[in-house]
Parts: sequence; C-alpha cells; structure tokens
Amino acid sequence: MWLIYSLLLAVVNAQSPCDGVSFVDRGGWGAREPFEIQNLTRKPLSFYMIHHESEIATKCYDDDSCIEQVQNIQYNHQNRLDYVDIGYHFLVGENGKVYEGRGWDRQGAHSTGWNKDSFGICIIGNFNTASPNAKTLKAVRSWIECGVERGHVKENYYIITHQQSQSPGLTKGPGNGALDIVRKWPRYCSFENSGEFPRVNDIVISRALNFCKEEFSASSTASTYLIEPMISFCLLLIYYL
Ligand SMILES: *[C@@H]1O[C@H](CO)[C@@H](O)[C@H](O)[C@H]1NC(C)=O
Repeated sequence: MWLIYSLLLAVVNAQSPCDGVSFVDRGGWGAREPFEIQNLTRKPLSFYMIHHESEIATKCYDDDSCIEQVQNIQYNHQNRLDYVDIGYHFLVGENGKVYEGRGWDRQGAHSTGWNKDSFGICIIGNFNTASPNAKTLKAVRSWIECGVERGHVKENYYIITHQQSQSPGLTKGPGNGALDIVRKWPRYCSFENSGEFPRVNDIVISRALNFCKEEFSASSTASTYLIEPMISFCLLLIYYL
C-alpha cells in the first residue's frame, strides 16, 4: 500500500509543470540589488505577457552568454531607463533556461498600464521574423503552467503579447516570429489595444479582460452548439434503431 502510494506520489510529482522549467534564480545570474521593491497586490493575476528584447540583447544559446544578456538588460533598465530593477518577471534564453527577474511576488515594469495584473516574460533576442527554438517555447509553456499550478495566476488566465497590449505600432514585441506561434496556444487572447485610452490607468486592462472573457465564452458556446445537436442526433438514432 505504502509502495503504491509513493509510486503514485512520484508520478504526480514528476508531472508538475514546474519540474519542466530550469529556473535560474537571481543569485544564479549575479543580479544586482533592486533599488526598491513593490509587491504585487492582486494575485492570482489574469494575464501572461510575452516579450522579446531586440534592441539591447542578442539571442543566446549557452549559459555564459545568456547570463551576460540578462545582466545587460538589468543594467540597461536600472541605469538608462531608471527602473528600480530589471523590468521583466522572467527571461528565457535559447538555452531553454528561465531566469528570475522580478519573480512571482513583485510588480514588474514591462508594459505600461498592465503591470498590476500581468506576468511578463522576455524571450532574449530578436524574433521579428525568426521563431524561438523548440527548447525556448517548451520552457515558456511549462513556465506558464507552473505559475498557474503554484497559484500565482488564475486558472482561466489569458496569454497576450506586448504589441497587442499597447497602441498600434508602439512596439513589435515579441516579434511576429514569436507571435505566430503564441497565437496558436490554448489560452491566447486576440485583444488589441486600439490606442484610444491613456496608458497609465486600468481602463485598457479591464477592457482586455472583458474582451478575452467574451472571446473564450463565445468559443465554448460554439462547441456547445455543435456537441448538443450531435448528442440529440445520436440519441434519436439509438431510439429509432
Ligand atoms: C513584499 O513581500 C515580502 C514577502 O512576501 C515581504 O517580506 C516584504 O516586506 C514586502 N515588501 C514590501 C515593500 O511590501
């Protein structure tokens, strides 16, 4: 009995999406101290936002160069953009590792107007045309599921990209190479910021939430419309046979 129980536990544990993520904590990449800490107050959050970093970083494929890129990004955010810390919650390199930026508990600075209700992950490099490699995509998807499993993100979360979150043309992030893949993911929401609202308040994000809820309830109603008549049809068939 005990053996069966431990085996079961082992199977359950092995299936945790968090086990599929090679996290590198701040100590692991030599992060500098944040200038200030602001904790998230609305957890679990509603959105995941996908970014890339194409101006101050290049793609990295091994641990040393990925650490160098993450350090560069932190330097740029703290010393040039005047952020209190690296803006993203997490970053992922094409070595498949996920680097802790602000982590699960602190508010990020990754997309103006969205920072209170979204976790931002940055794919290191430029993905305007090329898509991230398989390792990277797998890491991002496991990270997404991990956040839900650990209760940082709602079960009915939505995935969005940086370019959709801001006025049209403001940013290309995470690049169309990445967007073309992300838009096929199950909780992807197609909301696009029209640019008609100010960036600094909560209007855009509450609009987005309503839009995404409707998009997802519409798609589940569509399947109900299909499935219910099919069931009735089968029952009728059985009845007449
Ligand atoms: C943020 O949260 C941590 C632990 O949850 C706590 O120790 C810390 O004091 C909080 N910091 C601020 C600035 O609220």
